[in-house]
Amino acid sequence: MPGLRDEDDPHAPEERVRAAKKKRERHSLVGGFSTRAPGSSDPGALLCGVADAPNAEQADYWNAAKHWADDADGHDEMLAPLGRLAVAALGLGEGMRVLDVGCGTGATTRELAAAVGPSGEVVGVDVSALLLEVARARSAALDNLYIEADAQTYTFGPGSFDRAYSRFGVMFFADPVAAFTNIRTALAPGGRMAFVCWQTADRNDWVRIPAQAVRDRVDVSFDAGGPNPFAFGDEHLLRRILSSAGFSSVALEARTLPVLLGGHGDLDTGLGYVMASRVGKQIVAAAPELADELTAAIRAALEPFVTAGGVEVGAAVWVATAGA
Ligand SMILES: C[S@@+](CC[C@H](N)C(=O)[O-])C[C@H]1O[C@@H](n2cnc3c(N)ncnc32)[C@H](O)[C@@H]1O
Repeated sequence: MPGLRDEDDPHAPEERVRAAKKKRERHSLVGGFSTRAPGSSDPGALLCGVADAPNAEQADYWNAAKHWADDADGHDEMLAPLGRLAVAALGLGEGMRVLDVGCGTGATTRELAAAVGPSGEVVGVDVSALLLEVARARSAALDNLYIEADAQTYTFGPGSFDRAYSRFGVMFFADPVAAFTNIRTALAPGGRMAFVCWQTADRNDWVRIPAQAVRDRVDVSFDAGGPNPFAFGDEHLLRRILSSAGFSSVALEARTLPVLLGGHGDLDTGLGYVMASRVGKQIVAAAPELADELTAAIRAALEPFVTAGGVEVGAAVWVATAGA
């Protein structure tokens, strides 16, 4: 900017680094976040080494997840009923401090902020700068703090939060036990965590139907180990992970709800959601030369599920709760 010295420019890299460093120090030295951060005007991108962290591959994936950023409303509409199952399980009250793990574009962070009121505080943490930018823009009226950091490795102040929450943001850790241990130690004594994650792919119509529609042409599996949306489909594994991370009173409730694929819309909205997801991408990647044929088969398979609101199918999730 003409006439503006570099150090006066709030967007200058050095100033950003200084501001981020100050806030990070405050965050880890004073029990997490004793001072409220400004809303969307805050550069907020704390430099926590996400790029060379153990979850760098996931950070790359979510930084390129343009479909999530561009259609934040559609994703929110689809996932809101599922996410609220875990919000209800949190037992939120006025003035609580809440951590939203893998907050993405921030719809849940805003919902949690409304539930804890003006005396409460909500911090959203995510590895995707792309999605956090949308979150900050959509939360301009609130003073939620959005931190670009890996929930597995970020140094939260011990006992900084009363509650930890996630809507489908915890299945992508390279080391889930380390990540959940980190989240648990960020909770105060008596603190609790609740999150919602997918059950196995075969129990989820939005995966089962497309996979069946193409199975004579490509053989794809969505339950392979490692960080992926279905990493916690196996309830025994999830229980073991949470217990190994030191959580107590681990409870998993199986719930299946109807959802609109990609939110309110029509057959193309639902098809667009599936094809942009990892599921659609994996199917097409298995036989790229058949992309049009595979897409047409999935479209035909989704057609019977079109309702006045959009493509409505069953979504099966675990609502996980645990005590710190
Ligand atoms: C399926 S999206 C869900 C986003 C959001 N919770 C929602 O429901 O709209 C998964 C989110 O988890 C984030 N994520 C993945 N690994 C993470 C990690 N290690 N630490 C923090 N966030 C992570 C991704 O960047 C992405 O925003």
